[in-house]
Amino acid sequence: MVLDAPNLLICEKCGREYELLSRRIFCDCGGLLRVELRSVDAEVSWELFRSRKFYVWRYRELIPVPKDAEVVTLYEGGTPLIRASNLGRSLRLTNLYVKFEGANPTGSFKDRGMTVAITIAKYLGVRAVVCASTGNTSSSMAAYARRAGLKPILVVPKNGIAKGKMGQGLLYGATVIEVEGGFDTAMKVIMELANDLKVYPLNSVNPWRIEGQKTVGYEIVDELGVPDWVVLPVGNAGNITSLWKGLKELRALGLIKRLPKVLAVQAEGASPIVKAFHNGKYVPETKVETIASAIRIGNPVHWERALRVLNESRGYALSVSDLEILNAQKDLARLEGLGVEPASAASIAGVRKAVDLGIIRGDEVVVAIATGHALKDPDVMLSYEVDRVVVADAEAAVKTIEKLVMSG
Ligand SMILES: Cc1ncc(COP(=O)(O)O)c(C=O)c1O
Ligand SMILES: [Zn+2]
Repeated sequence: MVLDAPNLLICEKCGREYELLSRRIFCDCGGLLRVELRSVDAEVSWELFRSRKFYVWRYRELIPVPKDAEVVTLYEGGTPLIRASNLGRSLRLTNLYVKFEGANPTGSFKDRGMTVAITIAKYLGVRAVVCASTGNTSSSMAAYARRAGLKPILVVPKNGIAKGKMGQGLLYGATVIEVEGGFDTAMKVIMELANDLKVYPLNSVNPWRIEGQKTVGYEIVDELGVPDWVVLPVGNAGNITSLWKGLKELRALGLIKRLPKVLAVQAEGASPIVKAFHNGKYVPETKVETIASAIRIGNPVHWERALRVLNESRGYALSVSDLEILNAQKDLARLEGLGVEPASAASIAGVRKAVDLGIIRGDEVVVAIATGHALKDPDVMLSYEVDRVVVADAEAAVKTIEKLVMSG
């Protein structure tokens, strides 16, 4: 099927339409803008996509950047979809898969959105880009900005981002502004700058970020078909919005016939969307705390969109404790060899809880999105107790190993 009308930006609040390349982030009414895919200029098919390299731009007909734009890429996406049989068994699931987004160039799913948004930023002639971040957006934006020759400015919560992520910002030589008050305060800075013409905001309020991030859904069904459940950790709710947008587009194009259910997982100490899902009323949280710093967000920008996804997909939302998150992080590492950061482990903790509650059935096909790499947060990894034996010399080390092997 070929759609045939101009692509544009559309306000989700009042329906007003703007030209696709109008450089807008918000509508005049304050509503969020969405890229509306109304024109697909080739007969798209799985065959066509699969004739190409497995990365974000495999699906380029569905990412409406101008044809003459120079794509800024580090070959993001194309991440492994790993069958997790051992972990699945421990969760009483026969078909559990992990989409390992930590395999992206800067170690998180944010690279999918950044390749597209920085491509647009460069095309629009922007010189500087800015984002508020719990760490992964900033790492990714800094890398892609440098690749495109743009100046990266990062606004992060003071003492609120994991060391690996801070290190990436420094490595790329970004300007780092640390604000008191957590991510939600950092986000206010971006809202203030949204209409400033000198600097281009690259948070997920930027509609082009969503265009890139939606490819995670494309890849899952490209490799596996449509699962019964997709499970993901939710902070600002840009990723759940993106996943769903992508899947609905595939259905509109006739490339898939049905949609999965979506399970949104938040940390207990930062769970406004989960509470809104269950109570029918959204209340932003001012004091948020969790070990999973990437999802330590009390007032998610996309909360309304997230609730719509849960409703449309007949999905579910639940929260998990920090202890459950840490246990899931260890389980994934020790049963499957997969190292993910705490926020990503929340999705596994969420699967466990959903199975226990009878929300997910044992025979359903489940894909958990592991959004970021374990190396992002070395402090959490270093907090785990294991057998660490300090010995004086090589001989003592050999003896210790021999004793260990003997005792099985
Ligand atoms: C590792 C990781 N997981 C999950 C999320 C949550 O994504 P979103 O804010 O799009 O809901 C983030 C966001 O920063 C993240 O870095
Ligand atoms: Zn509007």
